[in-house]
Amino acid sequence: MDVDEFRERGKEMVDYICDFMSNISERRVTPDVGPGYLRPMLPPTPPHEPEPWDDIMQDVETKIMPGITHWQHPRFHAYFPAGNSFPSILGDMLSDAIGCIGFSWAASPACTELETIVCDWLGSAIGLPNDFLYFSNKSRGGGVLQGSASECVLVCMLAARAQAISRLKNSPAYANYDETAILGKLMAYCSRESHSCVEKDAMICFVRLRILEPDEKSVLRGETVQQAIEADIAEGYVPFFVSTTLGTTACCSFDNLEEIGPVCKKYPGIWMHVDAAYAGNSFICPELKYLMSGIEYADSFNTNPNKFLLTNFDCSCLWVRDRFKLTSALVVDPLYLQHTHADTAIDYRHWSIPLSRRFRSLKLWFVIRNYGISGLQAYIRNHIRLAKRFENHVKRDERFELCNEVVLGLVCFRANGSDKLNQKLLSAINDSGKIHMIPARVNQKFTIRFALAAPNATDDDDVMDELANIREKKRKATLDQKRSFFVRMVSDPAIQPGFTKTPNNRARLDTQATIGGLGSGSPTSRSWISKPLSIFESDTSELSLRFRHWDTTFGLKPTSNGSRRGSSNGCSPDPSPSVSPSRTRSPNGKA
Ligand SMILES: Cc1ncc(COP(=O)(O)O)c(C=O)c1O
Repeated sequence: MDVDEFRERGKEMVDYICDFMSNISERRVTPDVGPGYLRPMLPPTPPHEPEPWDDIMQDVETKIMPGITHWQHPRFHAYFPAGNSFPSILGDMLSDAIGCIGFSWAASPACTELETIVCDWLGSAIGLPNDFLYFSNKSRGGGVLQGSASECVLVCMLAARAQAISRLKNSPAYANYDETAILGKLMAYCSRESHSCVEKDAMICFVRLRILEPDEKSVLRGETVQQAIEADIAEGYVPFFVSTTLGTTACCSFDNLEEIGPVCKKYPGIWMHVDAAYAGNSFICPELKYLMSGIEYADSFNTNPNKFLLTNFDCSCLWVRDRFKLTSALVVDPLYLQHTHADTAIDYRHWSIPLSRRFRSLKLWFVIRNYGISGLQAYIRNHIRLAKRFENHVKRDERFELCNEVVLGLVCFRANGSDKLNQKLLSAINDSGKIHMIPARVNQKFTIRFALAAPNATDDDDVMDELANIREKKRKATLDQKRSFFVRMVSDPAIQPGFTKTPNNRARLDTQATIGGLGSGSPTSRSWISKPLSIFESDTSELSLRFRHWDTTFGLKPTSNGSRRGSSNGCSPDPSPSVSPSRTRSPNGKA
């Protein structure tokens, strides 16, 4: 494609995008396809000769679009929003055209400098303490754009781990320990309601993670953290990282930073991270800033403009109070990456895992400038208003029950009745192709999440009537109604292949065995430890895995030749909450 053809095709593509976005509500929100649908539609090998552009675009409409779940559809109410807007799309277009790889200041100065400035803009609009902003007097902090919230938590955990190891190595008690021995002593903490990425990050960092029970409103409390830390110190562990959440994934609850912060400060070297992947964006509204009270105790904070600030994936902002603590954990400095301004400029390669990085700040800059903070506030307030509207519908309709405190754009609700009934209702909702929602377990109950997601959501997109209709139809339908594979995949963990069910009583025993000295009624007695590579430590014929998002426990059955592969059979969820197959041992050898 030469520049003349690109000019023409580019304009056509903009037209295609405009039509697609204007008419998206005419499409099914979820696709009606099963796994493998695309394979027979495309040739098995790539074309040897160039193909006409028209043929390629034809295939987009006839083969790709039928397999798309439309996240920008007005009736898409699953997950959190996937940020999207025209200025953001234009920003990404330009970033792709510039095509620079801004790993260091020298590799593309504007790429680095705009990122620092835009992070400061957003950080100050959110109301982060000045210590987190780069261009603030005597600040050691600053912001960076990562690809995902998972990476934000990971780099902070890595930094906290490096700080803890270095501190311990300098103390007489650990003088004879090498780094790997110290790793076995470290303990991180989070709530059961925190995102599963915290658990994955702890696996990557090779540290133990104690997963704590929140209170009945799904809020992690200071006393719970304090009790767990004390119990672990008594067992010989070294607490080093507490990951809190503002706006949890399941029900958008807010951990109590005002209580947890002072607890972290009581002990040497505990890093408190605040994951506000979705909710953090909303703090640009003055009336919502109260939700982050206690932020002054945080060492780091992340939010994803690609969730709730009209910016396309990927764009996840991380701010740290001390950038030197972050970079000292990640610096590797080969000759070919060095440059003469390294002393005075930021090199973002030291702030993240990958070396190469996209020019992400361009789209966020476009969005902030084109909407203005007032336009972004209006967008957030509109989502909250519509969520409140749906909440009122639920409250007024005696067939349904509200299951969370609606603060932002997420409503958790359920039909009165059993979990089974609600699972069936959710399947029917998704089967309809008209609305898409996903489940969450809130207070031990199967609930349905209604999340505002469409950028231009309006009152016309009201789903309540549709929902009531579906519920009625469902009640009348036969119980063995056929469900499509896709729908079951998104709403029913039972069909995930490769796992078989594990009896839960063993897991419960293991869980309790990890806690010493606490009464069984205390919140920490219901916590559990996620331990790296515990999968290889099984002394029984089955290996247990826990999927916190589903609140289920599965066992992997060894295959007949002894290799540890999951069977290809389906499985059923074991909906027992707050237990896990933790099979960790305390450092002093006690089970
Ligand atoms: C609170 C929270 N943290 C982290 C994540 C993971 O986000 P990412 O996909 O950017 O890693 C999510 C995803 O929804 C989330 O809700």
